Amino acid sequence: MVNQKATNVTWHDGEVSIDDRRTLLAQRGATLWFTGLSGSGKSTIAVALERALMNKKKLSYRLDGDNIRLGINKNLGFSAADRAENIRRIGEITKLFNEAGVITLASFISPYREDRDQVRRIHQEIGLTFLEIFVDCDLESAERRDPKGLYKKARAGEIKNFTGIDDPYEVPNDAEIHLVSDKMSLSEEVNFIMDYLEDLNVLS
Ligand code: ADX
Repeated sequence: MVNQKATNVTWHDGEVSIDDRRTLLAQRGATLWFTGLSGSGKSTIAVALERALMNKKKLSYRLDGDNIRLGINKNLGFSAADRAENIRRIGEITKLFNEAGVITLASFISPYREDRDQVRRIHQEIGLTFLEIFVDCDLESAERRDPKGLYKKARAGEIKNFTGIDDPYEVPNDAEIHLVSDKMSLSEEVNFIMDYLEDLNVLS
């Protein structure tokens, strides 16, 4: 939990509502939070989903761990405290995009349940749709893929606190969507999420 530091600040309401933006965009804002090991396929699924949504003329935007760490979160590392702050900031950003009416795709390892639950809370307490998507892939498969060669480095002791090797990953207990990424094809995963969004009336 981060304490409020600034004093003498008050919330200022606008005159345009979430419903106004929903009507304008013909869609409902939603946050799709992809969590899973490095190399599990989070970013790949988010990229394909963003394309599929664009093909349906739906506006989405992707926030990706590596990209965000090259920009707004470049001052954060991989200690538990820094990972918590990483997720807290992204959670606040996804909330803003979601309120703006955008289907917001966030792919972050987000290894700690408490950090993910806090992001869920700040969305749900103001009625925003939040879907946790567990991209489930066993360590052996992620390590076999090793798209960035990072597991190899971590095994060689060149990266410390690497998730799954010498740092924890807490599996979600109550994710809305569970994708077993070493058993499903990319198009099956994308179709599954698209159907889920249709059923929730996010796309209309
Ligand atoms: S999180 O744990 O804070 O959610 P995030 O998703 O932003 O992590 O960043 C993870 C990415 O950073 C990985 O995909 C990988 O490319 C890179 N990375 C570098 N060092 C580590 C590390 N120690 N643990 C996990 N990922 C790391």
